[in-house]
Amino acid sequence: MAELVGIYAASHGPLIARDRGRLPDALRQRLSAAYSDLGRRMDGARVDAIVALGPDHWTNFFLDNLPAVCIGIGEEHGGPPEPFMRDFAPNPIPGDPALGRHILETALADGFEPALSYRLRLDHGLCLPLSRMGLPRMPRLVPILINELEPPMLSYRRCLAWGRLLRTAIASYPEPARVAILATGGLSHSIGEPTMGAIDEDFDRRCLDGFAKGDEGPLLDFLEHGAAGAGNGAHEIRNWAVAHGAAGGRGFELIDYIPAPEVYVGCAYAAWA
Ligand SMILES: [Fe+2]
Repeated sequence: MAELVGIYAASHGPLIARDRGRLPDALRQRLSAAYSDLGRRMDGARVDAIVALGPDHWTNFFLDNLPAVCIGIGEEHGGPPEPFMRDFAPNPIPGDPALGRHILETALADGFEPALSYRLRLDHGLCLPLSRMGLPRMPRLVPILINELEPPMLSYRRCLAWGRLLRTAIASYPEPARVAILATGGLSHSIGEPTMGAIDEDFDRRCLDGFAKGDEGPLLDFLEHGAAGAGNGAHEIRNWAVAHGAAGGRGFELIDYIPAPEVYVGCAYAAWA
């Protein structure tokens, strides 16, 4: 049977890659240390496959066709289209169609209605953390893309339910795979809005504190009412909520929180024990 061997979360602000050479040394080193820490943990967990949660930054979907949740079940996935991600490897990225299909079937049997795709292209949302983690070998990837760009979106309560569903699906997968969950995005940031570049450090710290404590009632209340004021990029915290649900609501270990105006993002990194 498969085993859920690790749950991780990381921000993915594109300027972390695009402007890497222009960032102050101390910031660049601190960001690198956080991603490397996650990479070491994932490598140490001997992960065969990653269920990777992230938004689609208009790479696969647009307003004419925008699934709330889409599971990638292709043999492989296309690499990032962004010029600043051109060195990403491997490209294409190996998929895990059997695990992806099992998650899809488990979801459909349990009252969830995700979309599916045999042909996704994965942008900086998933690929930036994956590349910066410095994994010696890229595990097979089952991407789950969640609409976090255009309202209406999944409720945070539903994100927690999705997490529990993923835990059930991985536990019931009959192959002997070591599976990790990687949630990407957030925390507070604002893109293309009048508040572009604003980081709500108070919100971020309260959010992280809520995840760390693990108490779902106050966390849900805070996210449902507070996230909308933390910039449109904060919608990506839904991925963290899915990971939190997959962890059974237990608290996580904060690896680092770096409010970095240079990359417009309150950058956070965590691992659920
Ligand atoms: Fe994003």
